[in-house]
Amino acid sequence: MATEAPPAAAAPAAAQDQDINPWSVQGGTDANGEIVAINYEAISKKWATSLVDDALLERFERVTGHKPHIWLRRGLFFSHRDFDRILTRYEHGDPFFLYTGRGPSTGSLHLGHTIPLQFTKWLQDVFDVPLVFMLTDDEKALFKDGLAFEDTLKYGMENARDIIALGFDQKKTFIYSDLKYVGGHFLMNAWEFSRLVPFNQVRGAFGFNESSNVGKIFFPAVQCVAGFATSYPEIWSDPPAEERSKEIAKIDCLIPMGIDQDPYFRLLRDNSHRMRYPSPKPALIHSKFLTALQGPGGKMSSSNPNSAIFMTDTPKQIKTKINKHAFSGGRETLEEHRELGGNPDIDVSYIYLTYFEEDDEKLKKIYDDYKKGEMLTGELKKLAVDLLQKNVEEFQARRALVTDEVLASYMKPRKLEWAGNPNPKPKPAPEPKKGKEGKEAKEPKEAKAKEGKLTKAEKKLAQRPKEDN
Ligand code: TRP
Repeated sequence: MATEAPPAAAAPAAAQDQDINPWSVQGGTDANGEIVAINYEAISKKWATSLVDDALLERFERVTGHKPHIWLRRGLFFSHRDFDRILTRYEHGDPFFLYTGRGPSTGSLHLGHTIPLQFTKWLQDVFDVPLVFMLTDDEKALFKDGLAFEDTLKYGMENARDIIALGFDQKKTFIYSDLKYVGGHFLMNAWEFSRLVPFNQVRGAFGFNESSNVGKIFFPAVQCVAGFATSYPEIWSDPPAEERSKEIAKIDCLIPMGIDQDPYFRLLRDNSHRMRYPSPKPALIHSKFLTALQGPGGKMSSSNPNSAIFMTDTPKQIKTKINKHAFSGGRETLEEHRELGGNPDIDVSYIYLTYFEEDDEKLKKIYDDYKKGEMLTGELKKLAVDLLQKNVEEFQARRALVTDEVLASYMKPRKLEWAGNPNPKPKPAPEPKKGKEGKEAKEPKEAKAKEGKLTKAEKKLAQRPKEDN
């Protein structure tokens, strides 16, 4: 059995630094001014995130009983903050929810947009937890000149249909438009959060200055507090709680996202304990960007139709785009290619296969054959075309089933239904307090209260060394 993940694209050093922020993603350039691949380890280092490593993946499999998604095994979701803590929560059956979002700047998604979303759906299936899905129609109108709020609202509704077509479980999923939903406890959280954040804390992280409109300056508070359980009183109880509460605020949160969104959530993690009802620092898991057709220095972008495969593309359009525009790591001539071999690491068709070819062994063989020159560029492209056409066609078939009623059912604020871990492990009995161990020592009350609820037999179980299952 092949457990070894196929090699990911290599990233050479850059002469000019890459620039990554929530509004643009640009690879660095080398000494000749050529764009080089985005260096993800460098971002992780710069922003002090943790890299997803084998130990984390092993623990994931042990705790959930699921083999990690190919995108985790292949390093496409490569970085995190406190994902291990979420595993601990899951292990003990403690509550948490998933939160992710999309900025509706156009009416249809491209393939790159769907990656973090498909991954979120997988997490929802594995963990069996609620998901809140934010459509930031407010953000896009504030940040993009020429977009009216009516436009972004409309795009958001169209995007919601795409999101539903990815297969999220309706009973566990609440999709909302900021322009329609933000009010009540959500808005109270946003105002309270905004009071904790001085301008000089966001200006650097988001590139604001004195001329930035004040809506932009407030918006991060909105995107942040969407990670607080108290922002959604309807999903936890029916009727919804009239006031925010300490108990609901404690429900943990995991946010899957493209790495460019991390600045928002650093801000959230820096301030979540300072709210009147403190919340844990939300855990984050970060993806790389789906490479633009032109090559690994940029990401797919809606504003450049030739850079992206759209979820509305026909099979023919997909074929033409790959054949015409997908950057190739093949050689100039057939003879040269046969003799010297191609470079799969920079080949966009190969990179797409790393996303969509599930079979590790098959992928490894493609990598090797291409590198040896035994596989030609045309053959490699054909493999990518086939897989992408299949992915997009299946998506379109599901999209056609999303009626107005289906859309309304996901967007209605309501109590969600989920089960979480079917076999939670009792918590180990708390160690006698040593006083020094910072965080652990600070939470004895909670641990005691929970321990008090165990039966004798459960206590015994809890004292046994952890089993692997
Ligand atoms: N700002 C994001 C965008 O422009 C949308 C978004 C809101 C989001 N909340 C999120 C993305 C949480 C990831 C996770 O697309």
